[in-house]
Amino acid sequence: MPHVTTATLMQMKRQGEKIAMLTSYDASFTQVMEASGVPVVLVGDSLGMVIQGQESTLPVEVSDMVYHTRCVARGRRDALLIADMPFMSYSTANQALATAGRLMKDGGAHMVKLEGGASQLETVHQLTANGIPVCAHLGLMPQSVHRLGGYRVQGRDEEAARVIREDALALESVGAQMLVLECVPSQLAAEISQALAIPVIGIGAGPDCDGQVLVLYDMLGITPRKIPRFVKNFLAQADSVEDAVRAYVTAVKEVTFPGPEHGFK
Ligand code: KIV
Repeated sequence: MPHVTTATLMQMKRQGEKIAMLTSYDASFTQVMEASGVPVVLVGDSLGMVIQGQESTLPVEVSDMVYHTRCVARGRRDALLIADMPFMSYSTANQALATAGRLMKDGGAHMVKLEGGASQLETVHQLTANGIPVCAHLGLMPQSVHRLGGYRVQGRDEEAARVIREDALALESVGAQMLVLECVPSQLAAEISQALAIPVIGIGAGPDCDGQVLVLYDMLGITPRKIPRFVKNFLAQADSVEDAVRAYVTAVKEVTFPGPEHGFK
């Protein structure tokens, strides 16, 4: 796999080549992903749940993210490395700059991800103006689980869909270079993916996004939680973790995952 950059991902989108992304939290799994052709690795704050055993992502600290990003960076060779900015670490643009600086300088991240729409436009603008690539995250935003009243599909009514659509366009216009759309109707995700020039990566957002992301532990079936509808266990029919990750990459590229049973209306 050649070295992956934000320019590579833009080119993949233009050429209609689907982008397979997975979360990783350590060097060993990252090496498996490199060997299996995963072009984008996300150190998700989902580590709060799958590594730390927390109820949500809210307790995750910046120091946790820096530690795991550094571990992943040691296992990485060619993949683009994205790190999540944890809850309450980007409440102001200045705080976001400090957090992103730590994730990139101490952790070795190439891009940071943050949740939110209109309220984050100034922050995304400041980050990108300072040379920090930003991946935005809309739809179900796990850091807002208490405000949203649970882990629910977002954008089902016309007004909510309009807000997500407008937020996506606004985030792109202030410099976001990628967008994760989580748990939104497949039709809405397809429209947004078409409207944006930047890659849109879906999770529970149907097959028509420019790529897909899953939490590694979910797609390996290692989770004490109820498996969400949008997840497929790729280890169930594989001989090894590497085979499972390869099967995921192939399924995303060939658009056999996600299937209709993994999406929402
Ligand atoms: O934290 C995470 O792992 C994420 C992905 C599920 C997109 O944000």
